[in-house]
Amino acid sequence: MHTDFRGHKLTTSNELAAKSCANAMDSYMQRKSDVTGHLQAAIEHDPECAIAHAYQGLMLHGAKNATYQNMVNESLAKAKQFSSNISDREHFYIKALEFASKGQLLDAVSCFEAILETCPTDGFALSLCQAELFWLGDMRRSLAASSLVAPHWNGNIPGYSEFLAMHAFDLEEAGQYQEAEAAGRLAVDIQPANIWATHAVTHVMYMQGRHTEGIDWISGLQDNWQDVGQMQFHVWWHKCLFHLERAEHDAVLEGYDNWVRNREHSLVQALPDLYIDLQNGSSLLWRLELAGVDVAHRWQEMADVVVGRVADMSSPFTSAHFAVILAAVKDFSACEQLIDAIKHYSHNGEGTLTSHYAKAALPAAQAAVAHRRGEYQQVVDILYPARKNLWLMGGSHAQQDLFFQILLDAAAKCGDQRKVDLLLGEIEQIGFVEPAQLASYKLIKQQHA
Ligand SMILES: [Fe+2]
Repeated sequence: MHTDFRGHKLTTSNELAAKSCANAMDSYMQRKSDVTGHLQAAIEHDPECAIAHAYQGLMLHGAKNATYQNMVNESLAKAKQFSSNISDREHFYIKALEFASKGQLLDAVSCFEAILETCPTDGFALSLCQAELFWLGDMRRSLAASSLVAPHWNGNIPGYSEFLAMHAFDLEEAGQYQEAEAAGRLAVDIQPANIWATHAVTHVMYMQGRHTEGIDWISGLQDNWQDVGQMQFHVWWHKCLFHLERAEHDAVLEGYDNWVRNREHSLVQALPDLYIDLQNGSSLLWRLELAGVDVAHRWQEMADVVVGRVADMSSPFTSAHFAVILAAVKDFSACEQLIDAIKHYSHNGEGTLTSHYAKAALPAAQAAVAHRRGEYQQVVDILYPARKNLWLMGGSHAQQDLFFQILLDAAAKCGDQRKVDLLLGEIEQIGFVEPAQLASYKLIKQQHA
């Protein structure tokens, strides 16, 4: 019998296919760039390996790109075709893929949770569970999942560092900063290349306003990321946020051009419209502009790859960032198409994301466009009543903060001091320690005092 590195059965008669599947699972948990390569190798070694096809489909689904839907469906069909002798655990992966392919994302989460009930050290299932819940905005449920399996993990189990990283991020988003930092630091001590753990501790430092420490933390670890995929660009985004807090705008632009959004980088060339990269890039440029920095041509290349994806409803948080990008280049026609597509999907679409689009992505996108048009009262009218729904877009507190900055800036420009003060209080409740001391909010308050 072949297994993954934690002893879970992988149904295939081909040893190399099993090894490739196991490598893919661990590469995914480690945020490495070679996951797809391992899965393709697994399928080449055993074209009838059901779980390899299921994993492949789940990876394609996770890329949040509507043009991948046919490939997701093909992977699902093959996984089901070859599923006659697979384990219950493997059946749950295929079931999760089937739900995901139909947009029933909470049902997919339930499948991952079912796997974890009987296989608590299936770190790959935990990783997929966290990813799905993160983009649904439900990190409390993700924390429940990692907390439930925590007693089953220890340093003798391969992947312990990766487990700690996941648990650390769940804890951080729940505001349990001390526990999060301890788990994240332990994970990095075990494996310095653990970028997900590095990221969790980075979040703690950002939420607590430890900006200089954050730069030092990332600088001390960034040389370990040669094998890491796009996640490294996101951690560079975080590093740029720390520099922004210290008004080191040249360092932010250097980080942006070389890492956050470097079109020459091989990973970006392979996937120039990857959702997380576009979120990072647009979120950073908007903040730079708020700080009075001329970002010149930088919006346009993102707008060029986004304009063809206005009807892509696979990620509410990404669609809201698409609005930020298209509005920045003043392509208001594309903005309208995007907003119309969101409205249509909200009313006529199926699956978990429809309400997330209706309640959060739609007002966020409309507000981003209105802000760029200078219609600040409109921003407040749209986004203020929806602000407590914004978590439905998914993303971290640090990422979602962009839309609170848009709202707060608009409220300040409208001279609505009561809302400015109230919003700052609410942002503190979200988990930011002293938000009024953050560069963006300080600036907004100064400009409109
Ligand atoms: Fe982050």
